[in-house]
Amino acid sequence: MSVSTRTPEAPTTPGTETGTPATGVAVPGTAAPPAGRAYTVGRAGDVPPGEGRAFVAGDVQVAVFRLRDGSLHATQAACPHAGGPLADGQTDADVLVCPLHLYAYRWSDGSSTGGAGPLQRYPVREVDGLLVVDV
Ligand code: FES
Repeated sequence: MSVSTRTPEAPTTPGTETGTPATGVAVPGTAAPPAGRAYTVGRAGDVPPGEGRAFVAGDVQVAVFRLRDGSLHATQAACPHAGGPLADGQTDADVLVCPLHLYAYRWSDGSSTGGAGPLQRYPVREVDGLLVVDV
């Protein structure tokens, strides 16, 4: 599966946008980085250690993971191999494993250990208890 590119709509407030309507929480003062736009996708507690959750950032479906060391990672939600739900995958410190056919993707660069296409990764961070993803 190829990753489609998108042209985000202009934000209503420069540098600040909200993500999924499910939370509808704005992040005051969240500046969009030059490479993309910042979206609040949920609360930090929505993603427990060792797990992933699917969110929408603007019009991009993303999967956000919190590894057991507390670090956050965000990827495309659908597996590059055949669209599997990556948020349901298993993780360790080095890779994310898709639940459908068990292809593994390296956190370091998104490459597949099994020959599938690369995984699109997105910057993600916590801001005042909220998850912010740049797409
Ligand atoms: S859909 Fe993810 S490994 Fe096949």
